[in-house]
Amino acid sequence: MIIGVPKEIKDNEARVGVTPAGVKALGEASHTVLVETQAGALSGFPDAEYQHAGAEIAGDAGYVWGKSEMVVKVKEPIEPEYTYFREGLVLFTYLHLAPLPDLTNRLLETKVAGIAYETVRDRYGNLPLLMPMSEVAGRMSVQVGASYLEKERGGRGILLGGVPGVPPANVAILGGGVVGTNAARIALGFGAKTTLIDVNLNRLRELEDIFGGRLYTLASNSYNIAHVTREADLVIGGVLIPGATAPKLVTRAMVSHMKKGAVIVDVAIDQGGCVETARPTSHSNPSFTVDGVVHYCVTNMPGAVPHTSTLALTNSTFPYVLRIANLGARKALLQDAGFAEGLNTWDGKLTYRGVAESQHREWTPAASVIA
Ligand SMILES: NC(=O)c1ccc[n+]([C@@H]2O[C@H](COP(=O)([O-])OP(=O)(O)OC[C@H]3O[C@@H](n4cnc5c(N)ncnc54)[C@H](O)[C@@H]3O)[C@@H](O)[C@H]2O)c1
Repeated sequence: MIIGVPKEIKDNEARVGVTPAGVKALGEASHTVLVETQAGALSGFPDAEYQHAGAEIAGDAGYVWGKSEMVVKVKEPIEPEYTYFREGLVLFTYLHLAPLPDLTNRLLETKVAGIAYETVRDRYGNLPLLMPMSEVAGRMSVQVGASYLEKERGGRGILLGGVPGVPPANVAILGGGVVGTNAARIALGFGAKTTLIDVNLNRLRELEDIFGGRLYTLASNSYNIAHVTREADLVIGGVLIPGATAPKLVTRAMVSHMKKGAVIVDVAIDQGGCVETARPTSHSNPSFTVDGVVHYCVTNMPGAVPHTSTLALTNSTFPYVLRIANLGARKALLQDAGFAEGLNTWDGKLTYRGVAESQHREWTPAASVIA
């Protein structure tokens, strides 16, 4: 198969869909990889590395899209890329179609097979191609929080781990899923006094087994949240109710009772945020202050560490890329019901219920179109 890897053109997107390691593995399986020039440069993979791994470097995005049977990307295509869609093309990337009716229409009109990273499920029902970005954001949240706690950045001038004779900072983590668990790992590593709150008691039991007595766990209710936020130097928001807007667990009143110079990193901001005073920010202007509390609410945190994020993402996506290349999309999807859940568009039909429901349109189950 000929596989194309275009350079991402969405604002501030530095990740790339396939690394040189992936190019080498595809070559070993007798596939051809076309990489647009500079596609991996911002992730730390120069053209020369791709070439060395066996890729053909192309100067023009149109050439990469036009020649390829499958295009592997990171972000959903944006308008200038729509012109490259054509029947027979397999597109494997984050698609996030629900709020994007125009992109959905174009994929359907052109009969592209659109397989979305965010809806692929593994055998346990998890979303394995979303998880790596939550791992990155969870770990990053503590690093970012530590930096904003420095005086120069508006924080109260406290070192997370303290030093001998000086107590460590208090870190409060809301949500003990992928983001929360990774945040807890790093906060404990820094030596901070770390408390994690979740509504799922079984998850708290698991976390206590993982971290032992070093992690304080608390059941989620407004009394406990008010208490820990008042004491906290750093609050990390990582709650998720799948498919819904995040619950506002930290109210404006709770923020007003927090210490001046404390920091909130609301990772859940991409789902609306779990802090009432949070609003989405970007890497170019990441923080703002409310009632003396610094808020960091960047919606695509992994974008700040594209090298790690590209490696984390492609570690998870690449086995699927190789399967599509080896078997063809239809057979690869037929063999794995969880992977078939990734199929959003096929031969002009919308095949993902969630997207259809949010756009109030018809859908056809993936299993029936690929059978
Ligand atoms: N900003 C970014 O760059 C970025 C990057 C990755 C993920 N995220 C977001 O971070 C959020 C968390 O993602 P995740 O992968 O950790 O999700 P997850 O499903 O693994 O974990 C969510 C946790 O929240 C808990 N929860 C739900 N309701 C709660 C409540 N009322 N009180 C306390 N806990 C509650 C759940 O029990 C679960 O353990 C999501 O919104 C995700 O989209 C943001």
